[in-house]
Amino acid sequence: MSNWTDVAAEADLFEGAGIPVSPGGRDIALFAVDGEVFATDNLCTHGNARLCDGFVEGHEIECPFHQGRFDLRTGDATLAPCTQPIKVWPVKVEGGRVLLDLG
Ligand code: FES
Repeated sequence: MSNWTDVAAEADLFEGAGIPVSPGGRDIALFAVDGEVFATDNLCTHGNARLCDGFVEGHEIECPFHQGRFDLRTGDATLAPCTQPIKVWPVKVEGGRVLLDLG
């Protein structure tokens, strides 16, 4: 079942950077890359770091704590010490608003 939820204005996003949003008390990070928007759980699966504070490299987010990486498109861990994927959320942008399908 879809549950599209408005979480931010597209204008709040910055190319190559992340921002935190907290729909329904969840901690989710939004990233803008090449005009596309990606949403992932904000907490790193390796430790207590927030990925919105990390560094975007292409389609990867580098964790600010130990420089592990995840693919923003799939959530896959792509660089140690990260091994567990992060959850990715379906995104659509409509009328200048960013919506996530929170299921
Ligand atoms: Fe993210 Fe260690 S907390 S790589």
